[in-house]
Amino acid sequence: MEQLSKIPTHVTIIMDGNGRWAKMRGMDRLEGHKAGVESVRACTEFAVEKNIKYLSLFAFSTENWGRPTEEVEGLWALMFKAIEMELKTLLKNNVRFLVLGNLSMLSEKLQQAIASTVEKTKECTGTTLIVMLNYSGKWDITQAAQRLLEERVQGPITEEDISSRLVTANIPEPDLMIRTSGEMRISNYMLWQTAYTEFYFADVLWPDFRKPEFAEALESFAKRDRRYGKV
Ligand code: IPE
Ligand code: IPE
Ligand code: MG
Repeated sequence: MEQLSKIPTHVTIIMDGNGRWAKMRGMDRLEGHKAGVESVRACTEFAVEKNIKYLSLFAFSTENWGRPTEEVEGLWALMFKAIEMELKTLLKNNVRFLVLGNLSMLSEKLQQAIASTVEKTKECTGTTLIVMLNYSGKWDITQAAQRLLEERVQGPITEEDISSRLVTANIPEPDLMIRTSGEMRISNYMLWQTAYTEFYFADVLWPDFRKPEFAEALESFAKRDRRYGKV
């Protein structure tokens, strides 16, 4: 496909709109999150097909703890199930799995499931799928600063000193950031890493964002002129 010739190296997605998707159907919010897992599957498959090297997905923000307990617990249960269930498909598709964020606050059981899937897919050389869990951009920059302090790094501090201590160290900064559900905000996501990222906002709710919608985002990206402050 000619229009997909400029494939981004790293696509990141703020998966938004699961609750509204469920509400529109008179369903419980958790049903929206379940339908959202199907979109994760479809988009991962699409990334593999298009040879996108990194696909990162914002799945739970540090602010999302403020939601009702049933929803928060339901989300963790859903993630546990998905991580266990998807291992086979990840291996079949040569997908390396990573989870980034403040993982110490997750249950022991979930942390173990994550570590196990990460370990079992570590030799995969195709797409890297990164799930951002209990993540926020301000938290990330703060923990990087804390590490600099603990390592007693002598000033002057460089940008490289900071970026190499973010949880995304070693991962190229996103070329394209997609947010679904029509909201046009960053919601404390990758603040540092998106300095020169192209943004794409889709009106569809996350459970309705599948391969054709992803393809449209890539087509938009391919037409962009990234100037990085130059002319
Ligand atoms: C995104 O959908 C999923 C998470 C934030 C975990 P939402 O749950 O935010 O859905 P809306 O925005 O309420 O519709
Ligand atoms: C952002 O969505 C977080 C995730 C997608 C995980 P939210 O639904 O939490 O963001 P706000 O509250 O609309 O800004
Ligand atoms: Mg939302």
